[in-house]
Amino acid sequence: MLSIDALRVAYGGAVEAVRGVSMDVPDGKVVAVLGSNGAGKSTLLRTISGTLSLHRGRVDAGSVRLDGADLVGRDPGKIVRLGVVQVPEGRRIFGRLTVEENLRAGGMASKDKSAKAAAQERVYDLFPVLKERTSQRGGLLSGGEQQMLAIGRALMASPKLLLLDEPSLGLAPRIIGQIGEVIAEINRQGTSVLLVEQNATMALGVADLAYVLDVGEVSLSGDARELARTDEVQRLYLGHESEAPQERTTAAPRKTLSRWTA
Ligand SMILES: Nc1ncnc2c1ncn2[C@@H]1O[C@H](COP(=O)(O)OP(=O)(O)O)[C@@H](O)[C@H]1O
Ligand SMILES: [Mg+2]
Repeated sequence: MLSIDALRVAYGGAVEAVRGVSMDVPDGKVVAVLGSNGAGKSTLLRTISGTLSLHRGRVDAGSVRLDGADLVGRDPGKIVRLGVVQVPEGRRIFGRLTVEENLRAGGMASKDKSAKAAAQERVYDLFPVLKERTSQRGGLLSGGEQQMLAIGRALMASPKLLLLDEPSLGLAPRIIGQIGEVIAEINRQGTSVLLVEQNATMALGVADLAYVLDVGEVSLSGDARELARTDEVQRLYLGHESEAPQERTTAAPRKTLSRWTA
């Protein structure tokens, strides 16, 4: 479905944030992108959603294809209509609008009333807490509820592919668990997901496939469960020392895991 090839993205004159990244999001899958601060995760999502120019970034090389059509250079509204919707880092809900108004804003790109009604029902089924608060202002919700509203707002556009930028950021572990469950459910309902996270435990728990971004480059990629067992991910992202590796299938750390085809 989504296929990124040899992508290079820079800001201003100097900062090259993404340096030759290739990755695939196959239809119906959850793909996680792990990486520490500054790795280029948000830049990647901005490039896919067409919002890069709002941040004064530019694509220097490579392509981002959705079912074959290149998304680079298209405007963000067109990309939403093609079925790719981003939940930006830091949620960005409208604090002074009510829950219902926030959701309605998410459906604005579509004129299909029955699709919007169905999307709203889906959102309220996924997030009963939002249904209880339809007329409450977004800014008065808790952090977790705001994240749910941000995801709900994106779902109002009935995406084929949902882009999530660090949905767990700043949330308590229990709430992060709920967000993980919701992502799995959204995917079961047929939406593909590209999930950018620093929280590797949540991301690898829900993802089918995963990539590790390291200063703008893919350092590791493969099946999410397999990746969770590697020394590098254990050490850097899961907070375990690798002195007593059990359950390891190979003796030497492998740089590249088995690739898959989209
Ligand atoms: N608007 C911007 N202008 C200039 N540099 C930026 C901008 N946004 C991000 N960067 C730089 O690009 C690199 C990647 O950033 P980002 O994609 O935000 O990483 P991540 O989301 O993984 O933390 C970093 O070096 C960051 O400082
Ligand atoms: Mg980021």
